[in-house]
Order: sequence, then structure tokens, then C-alpha cells
Amino acid sequence: MRTKQLFQCQACGGLAPKWSGQCPECGGWNSLIETVAAERPAARPAGRICTLGSVDATPLERIVCGIGELDRVLGGGAVPGSVVLIGGDPGIGKSTLLLQLMAALAQGGCQGLYVSGEESPEQVAMRGRRIGTASAEVRLLTETRIEAVLEAVRLEAPQVLVVDSIQTLQSEGLASAPGSVAQVRECVGQLVQYAKGSGSAVFLVGHVTKEGMLAGPRVVEHLVDTVLYFEGEEGSRYRMVRATKNRFGAVHELGIFAMTEQGLREVPNPSAILLQRHASEVPGSVVTVTRQGTRPLLVEVQALVDRSHAPAPRRVAVGLDGQRLALLLAVLHRHGGIVSYDQDVFVNAVGGVRITETGADLAVALAVLSSLRGRPLSRELVVFGEVGLSGEIRPVSHGVERLREAAKHGFKRAIVPKANLRGVDLPHLDRSGVERLAEALEAC
Ligand code: TYD
Ligand code: MG
Repeated sequence: MRTKQLFQCQACGGLAPKWSGQCPECGGWNSLIETVAAERPAARPAGRICTLGSVDATPLERIVCGIGELDRVLGGGAVPGSVVLIGGDPGIGKSTLLLQLMAALAQGGCQGLYVSGEESPEQVAMRGRRIGTASAEVRLLTETRIEAVLEAVRLEAPQVLVVDSIQTLQSEGLASAPGSVAQVRECVGQLVQYAKGSGSAVFLVGHVTKEGMLAGPRVVEHLVDTVLYFEGEEGSRYRMVRATKNRFGAVHELGIFAMTEQGLREVPNPSAILLQRHASEVPGSVVTVTRQGTRPLLVEVQALVDRSHAPAPRRVAVGLDGQRLALLLAVLHRHGGIVSYDQDVFVNAVGGVRITETGADLAVALAVLSSLRGRPLSRELVVFGEVGLSGEIRPVSHGVERLREAAKHGFKRAIVPKANLRGVDLPHLDRSGVERLAEALEAC
């Protein structure tokens, strides 16, 4: 059954019977996408007004799969009735992780269904063999038509549904190809409705395009409750799952895995793997304690400062914010007298982590200085703190926890914001509290 084609403007909501580059209503460009003609809504009864106190808001019991790092990024397990989108490059391990999730759930007696639109049962079974015998109990449906998927889940009523991937799904109501914005939006919309109506937890796989966006639609991100991104450095076996949106947990929470011959293995002590231990002290390397979600993480920040021969010197930040680097260089100049306008500056957060907070500011500043002067800092030193525009060092959240993590990994010295030293009792960690950038430059 195919209804009449209809196109809707993403900007103004106007409808058009045929596609054109410009919306006939608002004049916006490239904003028309195919949509399903909505049946004229029957007069619905008005919504019932209630007081918040009368709403039963006891938290739903989460579905804990037992893969600790995955449960952690979800905020303590999957929430019934929620929709989780897992994005990432092809081949990064999305299907592996979700198959392991299903295997773990099946073992725990939880009813699940894995829908694959990409691979044959043989291919999925082969992956299953690699991850172990637990996968034998996983129930699989290979299907790409959303209507058929929904029909199947209505009969099966799984507690957890995995759809791999949203780009392969298609709805009969639309003529567009699978993977198009219209199809993806429509199918995800239907799955969200299904999740809310049935109380089953739904995991959707989405491939990421080269630009780093979920193919087609950013639109999908706001339809779902949780967005996880699967990241990893090329050539590295470590994989990170980061929550970029979570209605039921902390954003920026990070789960860390290693890809092995038998699937993904959890890395319970990520600080240890992220620290690149140099045989000897090298200039430009400083260890910081960042906080990702709810956990402190030790990360090495590296800087390379080198005489520039280009008219405009280069500033490159990998795993850190480029704008922030420019700002720090300006503060270093103004409040530390450190000149870098004739230098190329590269900084890198080692191990493929992306630092999304300002707590690493001071470490970046000291790494730049260390490289510029060709003078290594002690390998036993750890540094964190936010650098302000007037050269002040501001405290960061969870200072004690960060210091504890550093002490746990054998660091002997810390240069941190003065206000972060309150209430710290760590006898083996020598601490310098600083309030100004100049003090920090002197302390190291
Ligand atoms: P996959 O989960 O298929 O990636 P995605 O679904 O994100 O496209 O993972 C594919 C890669 O992982 C592939 O290159 C093979 C590798 N792999 C292992 O190294 N060990 C394993 O046990 C499995 C199952 C896959
Ligand atoms: Mg896959």
C-alpha cells in the first residue's frame, strides 16, 4: 500500500505535492523531505491536567546487562521504554557490542530480539561464535521493512530490541530509498512510539558519515533518549563509547573496551592504558586528570611547539578544543610573557580521548611551555585547573576525586588550583596550590 507522495519543509512545516529545491511556502532551500501523509486527526479528547505530586515517578527498574562499561555509559543499565542510538564508523564494533549485550541478557533470562537488516543469519551467527557460546540463545530476525519488524515485536514482546541498522530500514509508506532522511526519520519515529508504548528498551545502530554526523539525520538525535558514540583511534584496539546525550544518565560518560579475538573486552582501569609511559622524561608531556561523566581519568597531554615558517603559524588541537588552545596561548602571552606567535603549536590528548572540559587548561599551558623551552617536567607530576582570561587559575569540580586518582596511580606531585586543595588528605602526594598562571609557571 503506497499512499500519495507528499513533501514537508523541515523549516516551516509546509506541505508540497512534489519535491523542489526551494520550499514554496517559506522559500527555504533544500528543506523539503518526503513525509507520510498524516490522516486527518480525529478530534482527540483534551489532555488531562494533573499535579506533579500525583504522578507516580518512582524510577523504573533498569535492565542491567552485566557488561559493566556499557551499563555505566547508559547511566546504570537500560531504561525500559527508552531508545538508545549507537553511532560510529563502520567496522568500529557496534554490531559486536550489541550482540554481546543480547548474549549477556539472554544468559540472564531476559527476552531480547536482534533485528539485522545488514547481515544474513550466517554472518551474525559467525560473529556470535567469536564472542562465545552465550550467543547461542540470542534470537535473531533479518528484516528491513519497519512494518514487518513492528509486527514481529508485537507478537514477541521482547524486553530489549536491537535494530542494526536504522539506515537499512524502510517504511512502505514512503517511496524514498532506505537510508534517506525521510526513511530514517519515519522509521525511528515509529520505533520510538513502539518503545514508549510497549516499555521495551530499544537500541538503534546508526552509521556515521565522513563528516561525523549520523548519516542523514541529526533529526534522529532529538527523537531518542540517549545517544552513544563509538570512537576509537585508527590502528588501536581500544574503543570508547561516549554518551553525548542521556536523559537517564551523565553526559560525556565514557565506557572503555578493547577489541579482542573474542569480541569486546571491558577495560576496568582505563587510566592505566591511557597513560603513555615514556622511558625517560620528554619535553611537552604533562599528565592531567580529566573527568568524563562520573569518573576521573588520567590523560597525557602532549604539545609540540616548533618555529613556524608559514605566514600564519598553525594551531592544531587533537582531542582538545582548538578555540580553547588559541585562548590559552593568548593568556600565556599576556600573563606569562610566553611568546608563541612565531611558532606552530600542536597539542594532543594521548590515547584517543576527547577532553571536553576546561580542567585540562593548565596542563595544556604547561605542556606548551615545556615544549617551547625544551625542558621536560617531572614524570611524577600531575596538573589540572581551569585558566581564566585574566590569568587566574580557577578550581574545577571534583578536585579531591581527581587528586585521589592521581595518587592511586603513583603520582607524587600535583600543581592544581588552590581552592581544590581543601579537604585533601593524601600524605604521599606533594601538592602545590596556585591562584595565578605565573605561580603555576614558577612551580613547575
Ligand atoms: P562490527 O561489530 O561488525 O562493526 P560495526 O557493526 O560497527 O560495523 O566489528 C567489526 C570489526 O571488529 C571487524 O573488523 C572485525 C573485528 N572483530 C574482532 O576483532 N574480534 C571479534 O571478536 C569480532 C566479533 C570482530
Ligand atoms: Mg554492523
